[in-house]
Amino acid sequence: MRTLVFVLLILFLVSHQSHVPVSAKVFLSIDCGSSSSDPHTDIRSIVWVGDNQYVKTGVARNVIAKDIPDGWDSHVMSTLREFPTRKKNCYSLDVNEDSTKVERVLVRASFYYNNYDNKSSPPNFQLQFNGNFWENVETSMTEIVYKEVVYSLNRGNTITICLSQTWRDLSPFISALEVRSLDSDIYGYVDSNHPLMFMRRETYGSDTIVRYPEDDWDRIWEPIGPLANISDGDVIRVKNTSPSFKVDIADKVPEALFTTTLMRKNISRPLWISGNIGSPQLPRHFNAYFSEVIKLNSTQKRLFNILVFTYDDGNGNETLREYGPIIPPYGHALQVGITNVSVDSYRKYEIDLYAADDSNLPPLINALEEYVIGDKLVQGTNSKDVNSLALLQKSFIQLQDWLGDPCLPSPYTWDWVECDSNTDSPRVTALYLNDSGLVGILPDFSAMNALRFIDLHNNSLTQTIPDFLGTFPNLVVLNLEDNNFSGAIPSSIWNNTSLKLMASGNPNLSINNKTSGDRNSTEPRIPSSSNKKNSIELTIPIIILGSAIIQTLDNIFGMN
Ligand SMILES: *[C@@H]1O[C@H](CO)[C@@H](O)[C@H](O)[C@H]1NC(C)=O
Ligand SMILES: *[C@@H]1O[C@H](CO)[C@@H](O)[C@H](O)[C@H]1NC(C)=O
Ligand SMILES: *[C@@H]1O[C@H](CO)[C@@H](O)[C@H](O)[C@H]1NC(C)=O
Ligand SMILES: *[C@@H]1O[C@H](CO)[C@@H](O)[C@H](O)[C@H]1NC(C)=O
Ligand SMILES: *[C@@H]1O[C@H](CO)[C@@H](O)[C@H](O)[C@H]1NC(C)=O
Ligand SMILES: *[C@@H]1O[C@H](CO)[C@@H](O)[C@H](O)[C@H]1NC(C)=O
Ligand SMILES: *[C@@H]1O[C@H](CO)[C@@H](O)[C@H](O)[C@H]1NC(C)=O
Ligand SMILES: *[C@@H]1O[C@H](CO)[C@@H](O)[C@H](O)[C@H]1NC(C)=O
Ligand SMILES: *[C@@H]1O[C@H](CO)[C@@H](O)[C@H](O)[C@H]1NC(C)=O
Ligand SMILES: *[C@@H]1O[C@H](CO)[C@@H](O)[C@H](O)[C@H]1NC(C)=O
Ligand SMILES: *[C@@H]1O[C@H](CO)[C@@H](O)[C@H](O)[C@H]1NC(C)=O
Ligand SMILES: *[C@@H]1O[C@H](CO)[C@@H](O)[C@H](O)[C@H]1NC(C)=O
Repeated sequence: MRTLVFVLLILFLVSHQSHVPVSAKVFLSIDCGSSSSDPHTDIRSIVWVGDNQYVKTGVARNVIAKDIPDGWDSHVMSTLREFPTRKKNCYSLDVNEDSTKVERVLVRASFYYNNYDNKSSPPNFQLQFNGNFWENVETSMTEIVYKEVVYSLNRGNTITICLSQTWRDLSPFISALEVRSLDSDIYGYVDSNHPLMFMRRETYGSDTIVRYPEDDWDRIWEPIGPLANISDGDVIRVKNTSPSFKVDIADKVPEALFTTTLMRKNISRPLWISGNIGSPQLPRHFNAYFSEVIKLNSTQKRLFNILVFTYDDGNGNETLREYGPIIPPYGHALQVGITNVSVDSYRKYEIDLYAADDSNLPPLINALEEYVIGDKLVQGTNSKDVNSLALLQKSFIQLQDWLGDPCLPSPYTWDWVECDSNTDSPRVTALYLNDSGLVGILPDFSAMNALRFIDLHNNSLTQTIPDFLGTFPNLVVLNLEDNNFSGAIPSSIWNNTSLKLMASGNPNLSINNKTSGDRNSTEPRIPSSSNKKNSIELTIPIIILGSAIIQTLDNIFGMN
């Protein structure tokens, strides 16, 4: 008998562990700064992997993880990845879904500083996703700070999350990165061209954190908030008496939010939620969730109104909007959207739930989400440029640790490109690959036809100078000095009168085609970008093959 119980218990444990009811198709949890050889399963059965395969830069660091709050894992918080160099460092995750399907993802980035560097200086930096601005992060000395964004992957399967330095000497860092795919109808009322950035997600009935596995998508519902802080004894938590419960609402919030409810005792007083506005100063949107806790008889009535009140502390400029009456259903959940609450740096808001005149029961609330709607998602850098940069990265190992969008968000480009970012699909206008240790043959990157400057000097590029280098319509400077090019200079370059070529320091480069008689076809002209017509008249040869001439030309063109 004892054995049977034991066996059953084992079976229960095993099945419990292997049955991880994940509704999300993508459920990726990355423990930043930890080695991927050793996945870690936390108390909620979430499996954490190291970050080596998702990021190529930065340094892994250890953190003393103590007093980690409920809902977080101290093992995960005990490592982080620091980015002491480069203006932008990115994680790149390929979520490998059917590319035709528009899919929403929730991405959460978490930061636990706890003075890991002994500098007592929790850094500020900028977070970005897929080339879009996400948020300016202010980390805390001892608290876990986290940011959450929901957006549609309508332009491919890759999620890139970048951390950019905004202050000199403050190195960005990250402790955890989580991706959960959402059904497309969750938050589907915000059009898929815009991201949702969550400012808070609070459960008022529960006194413990609610997340996975209660929430299939692992949204974090914090049991704190202004309401939980009312200590006058007039706010109580009440158990829901409904024998069966159905959360049949589009946002598929967890049932656990409705087992207990926060309620006023005194029907004459409102339940209130207030907020100060930090950044970003965008209109706030709210989802409020309700459910009736008792089966009402014919004389009992619970109706209340939601008053949304914004005010300036200084000038008393107030606005008031009213929603209602709200009648929470018994055995079901009700979701109420409150949109477009406009705020600014001084403007605060308050949400008050007041019993309606004909109500004889006080107001209640279960949960609240607050979010802003971000700017329209960018297209990303022009795909011809992205593909060509990928060719360069494939050819040269030195370039392979650059991830994320090369140009966006402006001005956070890769260090070796320059972009025209006036559109939401920018073009790469300059390649600065000088002094980069590139060895071998240049791949054909002629599709990058917005290039104006190409600097490849001081590498070990070999073989003949590719013909395509002379065909860029806007190219004005091509610096190939101090490489190992050989053979002749292609006629595409000879013929390109608006292009300034610098090619000294290539001992095997042939100059036999340079004859002084026929200038049109043998001597490219020195460009004058402000007046190309005049440049035809210039007679100085620009092919620089001897260091003696460099000095002269440097003086003329102010190079270096
Ligand atoms: C920080 O200080 C502690 C205690 O002095 C030391 O053990 C640790 O190695 C230091 N960490 C760094 C990154 O300097
Ligand atoms: C309660 O309010 C105090 C001061 O207003 C604040 O310091 C504290 O963090 C709040 N606690 C919670 C759980 O919100
Ligand atoms: C209920 O609230 C009203 C308004 O604040 C107050 O006047 C009244 O005394 C309260 N009743 C109880 C029983 O506390
Ligand atoms: C409804 O319930 C309340 C509270 O339990 C009770 O006082 C009242 O008499 C009930 N009314 C009817 C019609 O049952
Ligand atoms: C009052 O607030 C509204 C809405 O935010 C704003 O447009 C208006 O300029 C404000 N008026 C004053 C006097 O501040
Ligand atoms: C918010 O207000 C703006 C301007 O009035 C409107 O264009 C937008 O659709 C509103 N957004 C929502 C979510 O209601
Ligand atoms: C490329 O050259 C420019 C100017 O000559 C210089 O500022 C830059 O540091 C060089 N790049 C590298 C990677 O050394
Ligand atoms: C040439 O590039 C290498 C890196 O590949 C660098 O170490 C060296 O200093 C550069 N030479 C000059 C003269 O800048
Ligand atoms: C330059 O290329 C030639 C062959 O084209 C090769 O023999 C030589 O070693 C190369 N030199 C350097 C410095 O890479
Ligand atoms: C000179 O250029 C022509 C075509 O531009 C080419 O066919 C020929 O081989 C070149 N001569 C030498 C010596 O490189
Ligand atoms: C360069 O110019 C010559 C003479 O005009 C012409 O024959 C040749 O096709 C041109 N080459 C290219 C690559 O445009
Ligand atoms: C060379 O340029 C002259 C004028 O500068 C022009 O008359 C001639 O046709 C050109 N030759 C070629 C081959 O383009």
